Amino acid sequence: MPDHPLPLPRTLDDVPELPGALPLLGHMPARIRNLAAFNTRALATCGPMFWCNAGLGVRELVIADPRITELLKARQASVSFYEDAVSSLIGGSLLTMDGEPHRRVRSTMGPAFSPKMVRSSDVITVVDEVARKHVERWLAAGRVEVLAATQELALEIIVRLIGIASDDLPRWRTMYQRYLKGALPTMIDTPLHWWARRARDFIDRGLADIVAQLRASGRSDTLAGSIANARDEQGELLPVAQIVPNLRVLVLAGHETTASSLAWTILFQARDADSQARAKTEVEAAAHEGVELGALALDGERFTWAEKQFREALRLYPPVATIVRRLAEPLEFQGVEIPAGTQVAVPILYFMREGSSWTEPRSYQPERFETRPRPTTIDTLMFGGGPHFCLGYHIAIAEGTLALLTLARMLADAGMTMVPERPNTPLEPHWVPLTHPPPKAAVRFVRA
Ligand code: HEM
Repeated sequence: MPDHPLPLPRTLDDVPELPGALPLLGHMPARIRNLAAFNTRALATCGPMFWCNAGLGVRELVIADPRITELLKARQASVSFYEDAVSSLIGGSLLTMDGEPHRRVRSTMGPAFSPKMVRSSDVITVVDEVARKHVERWLAAGRVEVLAATQELALEIIVRLIGIASDDLPRWRTMYQRYLKGALPTMIDTPLHWWARRARDFIDRGLADIVAQLRASGRSDTLAGSIANARDEQGELLPVAQIVPNLRVLVLAGHETTASSLAWTILFQARDADSQARAKTEVEAAAHEGVELGALALDGERFTWAEKQFREALRLYPPVATIVRRLAEPLEFQGVEIPAGTQVAVPILYFMREGSSWTEPRSYQPERFETRPRPTTIDTLMFGGGPHFCLGYHIAIAEGTLALLTLARMLADAGMTMVPERPNTPLEPHWVPLTHPPPKAAVRFVRA
């Protein structure tokens, strides 16, 4: 990690204020317009620690020093403020819990997400089945708008994984879309919020039924079953009221994130005939050796070409580009006393592109992942850090890799390749609320 040319401030009084904030909206419009350019400019102007105006009166202390991972681990770094801000959306879940209550739920649910369970539960079977179904549709249609297509795919995977039957999917999808409206700022309660809460209650009743059935059956060979039947250190099952918001949040946390990285990889691959040839060779070699794609996706010894691409998209376009904590108590960071109540923003995107030790970090080069070294906490910062590090990390990597392998296999079997619909239009990212490629960017499937 290269040192930043400007040093960290010595005291809180030395922390500079980023200029250019608009009245009321602060730096929000600049961040939305081009977060990468905003970060570069801000860091060049102010150095690795500065005050930024996040809009609507919220002041944030942005810290772009690699030791930030220590702050993320500190007990003072709290996420419980989300409970006030977006409670109808993520309230009662791991994403809003601190300290011992968070540790208890996380350590009870955690084993269901371990690499061992990703291998032995229904994760690979579900991803395999759903990916084949969706890719078949894409090829038959001859053209897809990639982001919408990968969102449909990832939504079906996660909804199936939390235990919802395939024929119930359309109803759940509708309810889920309504529930997302709960993300609107909650300063005023509108009929839309009421509608979103009703959809959430529908989802929660359904999930409570699923938990009850899974407990009655005692099944723990599926992701949902191993969560529902997990016991804490005292041997107790978690209360249903605690499991339900966490199952619901899996859909939110695990769907658009994976879909975004998958969409980037497909769009890049469509623009690169060599990359497609490499993907084809990889799946043909696997077929020749009798290796199942699921097993290939879980290869712990080396990176497949599919995984390299997925990891590179995650690095260059981290779906969650910034994470935020609020200090529950004062905290000293590299000699700077930060008071309680301060909102700290961690610019993940900056670390991925400029604060890392990668060569040519601003370009898409999947081949940079040659060996499988133990990644540093900065290398995996796109999945967060500290006790809230993404619980679905192993699922996300396996899912993205297997979906790409499936696409390569089905293209090869059909004698088809992908071409971009508008090869000369740059793929300008959207940064807020999650990073994703342009929604209208499409690929066509043509005879090879
Ligand atoms: C490429 C895909 C994904 C990315 C980039 C991603 C990224 C993240 C990030 C940045 C966080 C917050 C960490 C923090 O605040 O420090 C997080 C948390 C979380 N993610 Fe993921 N995620 C992905 C996929 C998934 C999937 C597939 C699942 C579930 C199957 C999942 C479940 C969760 C959960 C439950 C949390 C909350 C953990 C906690 O607060 O203890 N994520 N993820």
